[in-house]
Amino acid sequence: MPKILFVAADPRPERWTTEIERAYPEAEVIVWQDDGRSHDAEYAVVWHPPAALFARERNLKALFNLGAGVDGLLALNALPADLPVIRLEDAGMSVQMAEFVIHQVVERTRDMAVYRAQQRDGVWRIHRPIDRAQWPVGVLGLGQIGARVAKSLAALDYPVAGWVRSQRRLDGIEVFNGKGALQAMLARSRIVINTLPLTDETRDLMDHAFFAALLPDAVVINVGRGEHLVDEALLQAIAKGRVAAATLDVFRDEPLPAAHPFWSTPQITITPHVSARTLREATIAQIVAKIRGIEAGTPASGVVDPARGY
Ligand code: GLV
Repeated sequence: MPKILFVAADPRPERWTTEIERAYPEAEVIVWQDDGRSHDAEYAVVWHPPAALFARERNLKALFNLGAGVDGLLALNALPADLPVIRLEDAGMSVQMAEFVIHQVVERTRDMAVYRAQQRDGVWRIHRPIDRAQWPVGVLGLGQIGARVAKSLAALDYPVAGWVRSQRRLDGIEVFNGKGALQAMLARSRIVINTLPLTDETRDLMDHAFFAALLPDAVVINVGRGEHLVDEALLQAIAKGRVAAATLDVFRDEPLPAAHPFWSTPQITITPHVSARTLREATIAQIVAKIRGIEAGTPASGVVDPARGY
């Protein structure tokens, strides 16, 4: 009977634990508290766990991250080097992300702000139809989320390219491989969408040179991590008119501090890290299936390579 700890600052953790118990009646599921006790658990399901967890629980076989991005977890000094970390694989996130991104892209390419302003003024005026050739899209990262975003936009006939660190083929997507190809990818992109994992290689990627390389009147959509973006570089690119609009769902500090200039920059649309939520049902089904597999001797997929960072 495996023991599973639930370790997340959730105001109603029982919504998770009862669901896990329902899906896995043989398991014992415990809401972890830092009360100095050890539960001698085999598994932990975590989001931003405290270091004390690793001091108390010495017999964990695997750690399940309640999200796709494991940057926060890997940054913990207390994380034992040999403890397998398993990230969520899609679990309903990529469709949400594709939907969110399409909404933002269409908002710009179909002049929705212009039509909203016209409605306020009672104006009936028809503007030019969309010319997709004017809106080449570049997607940073073609993992499960990035690939779904890229394919969804390609299905709407936008010219789509993707940038990945390793070799990758994706039908209908022009793929640029490796660091040296980033510049070329940006130079053909007017809309750029970041879906990368945060690693030492990708931190601060969106800097002054990045924005300077994009096509004019660029649109920037960041659904990766706040640390990918050099905030000041984006603000300058907007001030100079190089970047026409940005949608930011993730920030270096979350919640975004009240005094941050992003709040008052009209070209920036802010959402509070909601582009792809962790869906309880799909997440639990995935984690339980993986634990059952491990218990039966089958290695789980989605194991993070700490050297790679995702
Ligand atoms: C959310 O940001 C995630 O990593 O899933």
